[in-house]
Order: sequence, then C-alpha cells, then structure tokens
Amino acid sequence: MSVLVSPSMLSADFANIQRDVEMLNSSEADWIHIDIMDGVFVPNISFGLPVCQAISKHAKKPLDVHLMIVEPDKYIENFKNAGAAHISIHYEACLHLHRTIEHIKSVGCKAGVALNPHTPVHLLENIIADLDLVILMSVNPGFGGQKFITNSIAKTSKLKELILAKNANTLIEIDGGVNLETGKQLVDAGADALVAGNFVFSSQSPTDVIKLLKKL
Ligand code: DX5
Ligand code: ZN
Repeated sequence: MSVLVSPSMLSADFANIQRDVEMLNSSEADWIHIDIMDGVFVPNISFGLPVCQAISKHAKKPLDVHLMIVEPDKYIENFKNAGAAHISIHYEACLHLHRTIEHIKSVGCKAGVALNPHTPVHLLENIIADLDLVILMSVNPGFGGQKFITNSIAKTSKLKELILAKNANTLIEIDGGVNLETGKQLVDAGADALVAGNFVFSSQSPTDVIKLLKKL
C-alpha cells in the first residue's frame, strides 16, 4: 500500500480556503490535516471550530484533526460535529488518556495520540492497541515550515516495533518538516501516513508534490 498523504491546511491560503480544499479534493491526497492550536498548549493560535466546519463543507476527503489544545475532552463532540473523521489529541495534554480515547471513539471518530519530540514511544505501551493512529511530531508543535528533527526516524522504527510486538493495527503518521528526502526515510522506517504543510503549499504545483509524496 502506498503511503497516506495528509496535507496540512495550516499552510493553505486562509483567504482562499475553498479553492485550496478543492485543489486537495482533485489531488491524490488521502486525508486533509487540520491543525488546531489554542495559544496555551502551543505558543500559537491557528483557527478553531468555524473554520474546521467551513473546510468540511467543501472537503471530499476525511478531515484528520490534530488538536494542539489543553483539555481536549471538552471539544470532542464539537469537532465531530465540525466534520472530523480522525481526532488526535496530545499525550502531554491528557491526564486520563484512555478515557479521552474512548470518548473520541464513542462519537464515531478514529482516535489518535500525538507525541511531542521529547516524549518516548514506550509510554504508549499500554494503550497502543486501542489507538487507530499515532502522530509522531517531527518538529515542536506550533508552527508550519520548521526544520525536521532527525531523531524522528529512529523513533518511527521504535514505534513500528512496538505496534508489531503488540499485534496492533495502529497507523503511524509523521507531522512536521516532511519533504521528499525526510519522507522517504520515514516511509522506510515504517511510517504509514505523512503530513505535509509547507512542502505542499509553498510549491508551484501542490498536486504534483502530493503525487511525488504518494510515490515514496
Ligand atoms: C505543526 C503542525 C503541523 C504543520 C506541519 O505544529 O502540527 O501539522 O502544519 O507543517 P510543515 O509540513 O510545514 O512542517
Ligand atoms: Zn499537525
């Protein structure tokens, strides 16, 4: 199976959201990545529910919602209603991770956990089989266009080992600094899905870039 590609709307033109979503609809992208930032969990504010809903109105691909917010439990129903197909919350933002994962599943969404670059994958040992996906952050969350943290490749292999050891069906998604070079290394290490923001949207031809990522 080819790698799943999830372009991040964080790098889209917010004055032309519909145009950019339609471009993704017509591309080989598998999912549409939606980065929600609250200015508390991360030092930046992106956009919230109304924008997610507006994207959903035009999107023909599953919305891959990445919540970089504190107290994510409060907003699970809201994001489901705003069109989320996947909801990923941060390990570092959850005191009762298992409860939050069950909450996400109970509303009918795929449930994911995101790990900051400093958070080791072994902390997921007792919950990995309950997760539909894990997002490994390969940059510190908060901004698009940052430099890839190389250790993320070794971390991807470790997570793959954990998933195989536990006989889990969890997908590995990598988020931050993905381009053709880092993407290839990540796919070889076991990544199932790649998020790409800046690399896709800063290009002259985003649909061609998505096509190239799909070939990795
Ligand atoms: C970072 C976000 C990413 C971001 C990736 O906090 O979670 O999804 O959009 O951007 P690039 O691909 O530009 O590094
Ligand atoms: Zn993200």
